[in-house]
Amino acid sequence: MRFDIFTLFPGIFESPLRESMLKRSIESGLLEVQLHNIRDYAEGRHQVTDDYPYGGGGGMVMKPEPVFAAVEAVLGVETTTPIVLLTPQGRVFNQQVAFELAQHDRVALICGRYEGFDERIREHLATDEISIGDYVLTGGELAALVVVDAVIRLRPGVLGDPTGAIDDSHAGGLLEYPHYTRPPEFRGWGVPEVLLSGDHARVDRWRREQALRRTWLRRPDLLERAELTEAEQAWLRQLTQEWTRKISE
Ligand code: ADE
Repeated sequence: MRFDIFTLFPGIFESPLRESMLKRSIESGLLEVQLHNIRDYAEGRHQVTDDYPYGGGGGMVMKPEPVFAAVEAVLGVETTTPIVLLTPQGRVFNQQVAFELAQHDRVALICGRYEGFDERIREHLATDEISIGDYVLTGGELAALVVVDAVIRLRPGVLGDPTGAIDDSHAGGLLEYPHYTRPPEFRGWGVPEVLLSGDHARVDRWRREQALRRTWLRRPDLLERAELTEAEQAWLRQLTQEWTRKISE
């Protein structure tokens, strides 16, 4: 999968792409990241990429010409490649959006700086706008790295274990069950007996119940969209009733 990243600060991407999973994905040819410096496409001696906002007010705005020029030089004018603007005004990034992007073999990411983009970039160049959360970063670069990281691990061959992404927190709409590894006892804290039982059916049931319980406790909002069986829904209703009874005692 190839990402074309348009940025004023390509240096930000250097070390994250040189470590761990991203590095390995690049080395094995599963990931290609091409960084394009928007400033290289700015006209004039000073290669200006920002300007004052029409109508006044504080802050600077990213000019449209260098951004259009950069994207069109790399992708061409007619392209089917998704062009994603990283902005706190975008739809909020989640596992579902990561899956959606992972279906494409090529994705372009445009990172903003300054107070914002000229609206014409949003309207006539970008095909999608993504925010990584309800907070404002100094630019879209860290957001782009989050997107690349979350998306690339969903591509076949990137994770050592091909089922690795299936049980992920959020993959089935639930948080993941708790994990344990050796030793079986650490500072007096044991491991749930079921995990040592070797009974795979029991382990699966326990994990599912833990995932449901954990999601119910920590992120009940996720349960509204999770795929649950009738029995699971009944069990969650029962949990809620028990809980309400307990707190009203
Ligand atoms: N640029 C600045 N803040 C951002 C955010 N929360 N998500 C994506 N891009 C951003």
